[in-house]
Amino acid sequence: MKAASRTAAAAPKPARGQPRSAPAARARITAVTSGKGGVGKTFITANLAAALARQGERVLVLDADLGLANLDVLLNLASTVTLHQVFTGAATLADAIVPAPGGFAALLAGSGMVEYSRMTPEVRQQLQQVIEAVAPHYDHVLLDSGAGISDVVLYAVSLADEVLVVATPEPTSMTDAYATIKVLATSQGRRRVQLVVNQARRLGEARAVHQQLQQVVDRFVNPGLPAPVRLELLGQVPLDIAVRDTVLRRQLLLDVLPGTAAALAVVELAAKLVAAEIA
Ligand SMILES: Nc1ncnc2c1ncn2[C@@H]1O[C@H](COP(=O)(O)OP(=O)(O)O)[C@@H](O)[C@H]1O
Ligand SMILES: [Mg+2]
Repeated sequence: MKAASRTAAAAPKPARGQPRSAPAARARITAVTSGKGGVGKTFITANLAAALARQGERVLVLDADLGLANLDVLLNLASTVTLHQVFTGAATLADAIVPAPGGFAALLAGSGMVEYSRMTPEVRQQLQQVIEAVAPHYDHVLLDSGAGISDVVLYAVSLADEVLVVATPEPTSMTDAYATIKVLATSQGRRRVQLVVNQARRLGEARAVHQQLQQVVDRFVNPGLPAPVRLELLGQVPLDIAVRDTVLRRQLLLDVLPGTAAALAVVELAAKLVAAEIA
């Protein structure tokens, strides 16, 4: 795990559109992951990136779901240059970084590529090198990782400074979120995990999910660890039909319906992420 110093990030953030007076020396790398699939990782990652960009942050989103990527689908990007071409030497990294709607940069991956269902030492090294190469040029690098505890997902998450677990209030999602948190704690030594509760149906639901997850972690994971795992609740995003509508139209919610409940919640998450970095 990285423990890079972030003193440069302590400068106050400028208003939207203005250059930062003191850019971070290296991006804060945040992996967005989940236990269960389909909980809203890609939606949250893309819109969080747009919200951060609006706050004047320089953001790159990397589709770290290497074999089953779909960030391009959500963002309606049709670039044929993906991480695969970079890894195989067919394209340069600069060619693969494309501007996304929402004012951030995207590094796409391919879909249906069985060669990335397992991480070979070569692919591990290449992914790490790509992240190291982009990090100095941004304030935030968000990794849209896949779901579950496969090799690919865990490796991508291991390259991040921070991990953000997305869960919905459904019992299946919570059970899988618990499994993910347990594996991150025991196999990667993670002690801080940020939680986003998506598709919440009522106010305060995230607090209940957070409490329940922390309780099981305290009971079944923490006793075996040298230091306890702390789940930090970053916030909740409501279940909002506008999300589904914009995903179907392949538009960014923050761009086209910025006043909806889900969009406002994502903006709040972004503000909290930046504030947590300053603290
Ligand atoms: N807050 C929300 N409200 C309503 N629907 C949502 C919300 N978040 C996600 N969805 C729905 O869930 C689907 C899956 O989201 P996605 O971001 O692709 O999940 P993941 O990346 O975790 O597999 C979306 O296409 C959207 O229809
Ligand atoms: Mg996804």
